[in-house]
Amino acid sequence: MATGRRNENEELTRWNAGQAGSQSGFSANPQFHPFPTLGAHSEKLECPIAHDLDILTARRKMTLLEIKNLKIDFQSGHSQLRAVDGVSLTVGAGETVCLVGESGCGKSVTAHSIARLVPTPPARYAGGEILLHGRDVLKMDREELREIRGGVVGYVFQEPGAALNPVFRIGRQIREMLKLHRPEKATMDEVVRLLKLVGIPAPEARTASYPFEMSGGMQQRVMIAMALASEPELLVADEPTTALDVTIQAQILGLLQGLKQRLGMAILLITHNLGIVGDIADRVVVMYAGQIVEMASAREILRRPLHPYTRALMDSVPRLGGVAERLPTIPGNVPRAGHFAPGCRFAPRCPFARPACRETNPELLEAAPGRWVRCPVV
Ligand SMILES: Nc1ncnc2c1ncn2[C@@H]1O[C@H](COP(=O)(O)OP(=O)(O)OP(=O)(O)O)[C@@H](O)[C@H]1O
Ligand code: SF4
Ligand SMILES: [Mg+2]
Repeated sequence: MATGRRNENEELTRWNAGQAGSQSGFSANPQFHPFPTLGAHSEKLECPIAHDLDILTARRKMTLLEIKNLKIDFQSGHSQLRAVDGVSLTVGAGETVCLVGESGCGKSVTAHSIARLVPTPPARYAGGEILLHGRDVLKMDREELREIRGGVVGYVFQEPGAALNPVFRIGRQIREMLKLHRPEKATMDEVVRLLKLVGIPAPEARTASYPFEMSGGMQQRVMIAMALASEPELLVADEPTTALDVTIQAQILGLLQGLKQRLGMAILLITHNLGIVGDIADRVVVMYAGQIVEMASAREILRRPLHPYTRALMDSVPRLGGVAERLPTIPGNVPRAGHFAPGCRFAPRCPFARPACRETNPELLEAAPGRWVRCPVV
């Protein structure tokens, strides 16, 4: 019996370590903190309010993540197809940035590259820098990468099934994450608290469930709880609410917002849906065909989207109190990586396209302070 339990423990530890090296990316060493100025979040929670506010203010001034001119290719036969083409963006400490765009625009590849999770091959990091607190992730060795995954950057993926181990109860899986990252909180009470935070009914009973006993939506919430267990400085959430109904979606977004406010955690939220950004985002980055086409504060984007693609995305968002009629869709499809039309990549679908648009791909230019647009016509 004792041997059986030890084997199970060893297997679970191995599995978590494997995840740390692959998708979920949780650090195997909870003591390691490559950026000591930011320390462990749990310390902040014990600070007096004034001190807390000082820390939060200081953090918001710091750039946590800076991606510079990132280029990522995929090998296809003998050709290299560029999926991410010169993406530059920043996420400040404590800031929430939404990365939006239709399917295939390069949102996930960009976001997964932050902890170098895009597998090479088939991918190739073809250029640029990914600076986390000024240190280039693309130059980190295996050990450094293992430490930033989960410790500094936590991920919530689109597919919860890929991150949950099917043969262990979910309470145990969350507790293992706590052991790795916040050992002093590795209790079933904390597991239950996290499950409650992500809106799982009867959390005490649910700790004994296996993933296959839960719906896709419930599994997704467990995955969010697991990511939150390490209280990362940057939470990258790739369509985290896709599998959830509207009410739970709002709860999860509220939860992320609350955590951001309490912990100063930055969030990079990837979504198809511009409709949710007003509730959570400080800034919005709109991607199309592997490039950024517009970048601005959430307020500005929602008030007056400039790029025709952003406008089209906004038009397809249902409005509260709007007339019940079919919402406009954007005609055509996002081109596949490497199959971009010459000139502006949005031209084949753009109602404002001019002949000149089909000749040169416009640059991303700063139209006003902090407001970037890739379209000379607007
Ligand atoms: N493993 C891969 N091999 C080849 N091409 C890939 C691979 N992964 C992604 N791509 C290509 O890279 C481009 C960007 O894909 P990505 O997954 O980042 O899109 P996305 O914006 O996240 O879309 P979605 O909203 O559907 O998740 C697409 O053209 C896709 O086909
Ligand atoms: S450059 Fe031309 S085609 Fe491209 S978005 Fe602007 S108006 Fe449309
Ligand atoms: Mg994606």
